[in-house]
Amino acid sequence: MLKLSDVETSYGKIKALKGVSMEVPERSIVALLGANGAGKTTVLRTISGVVHPLNGTIELWGKRIDRVPAERIVGMGVAHVPEGRHVFAGLSVLENLKMGAYGRKDKSNIKGDLDRVTDYFPILGKRRSQPAGTLSGGEQQMLAISRALMARPKLLLLDEPSLGIAPKVITEIFSIIRTINVEEKTTILLVEQNAFLALAIAHYGATCSKLETSCFQAQLRSSSRVTR
Ligand SMILES: Nc1ncnc2c1ncn2[C@@H]1O[C@H](COP(=O)(O)OP(=O)(O)OP(=O)(O)O)[C@@H](O)[C@H]1O
Ligand SMILES: [Mg+2]
Repeated sequence: MLKLSDVETSYGKIKALKGVSMEVPERSIVALLGANGAGKTTVLRTISGVVHPLNGTIELWGKRIDRVPAERIVGMGVAHVPEGRHVFAGLSVLENLKMGAYGRKDKSNIKGDLDRVTDYFPILGKRRSQPAGTLSGGEQQMLAISRALMARPKLLLLDEPSLGIAPKVITEIFSIIRTINVEEKTTILLVEQNAFLALAIAHYGATCSKLETSCFQAQLRSSSRVTR
């Protein structure tokens, strides 16, 4: 579904990725692990078109997307939940969720999808009128994931969903990530520092090394054998 070949990305003179190659098969969960500064966030930013690679190619369903603007990549079915969540603090939970559906043409299905995402995270239904900035860190992460789901993505990019969140809430969020993969058939590229958690739900693991910023990838389990 998604294929990166020898991707190199720089921020000005700073080379962040020096030849990343990896594949994300359709309907799988791929965990991308690596130390601080290894380039994990940059991999996601390069896929979603926030930055463009200097060299190398990125293909989504066989189509080159490495020169495509970010908003068109969203339109191709890619949703990115950034590191640090970035919910709209002054808007209510419901308004944040509706923002996720902004680019959709099938407006009539939005109401049903609001119910569906609040079924995954019932606390968001209870807090629907509350400003998002008043939610706890874990609830904000749930909102950020749910807002991304409102776009009905085919590929979900998640950047460190466990960061700064209580262990009990992390377990709940990871269980829902797996449910989303199974029930919505959403392909997921999950960046995590918490290797234990990520590898528990992933079908494939990839490690980014700071020295080369290349990736090593291995299959962990077959997607059909994963149980909920
Ligand atoms: N906007 C930027 N401008 C300049 N350099 C950057 C920028 N963003 C990241 N970098 C550099 O690129 C490299 C990779 O950073 P990146 O954020 O992708 O790593 P990461 O693996 O996500 O790290 P962390 O685990 O801390 O989130 C680092 O050396 C970082 O300093
Ligand atoms: Mg990062």
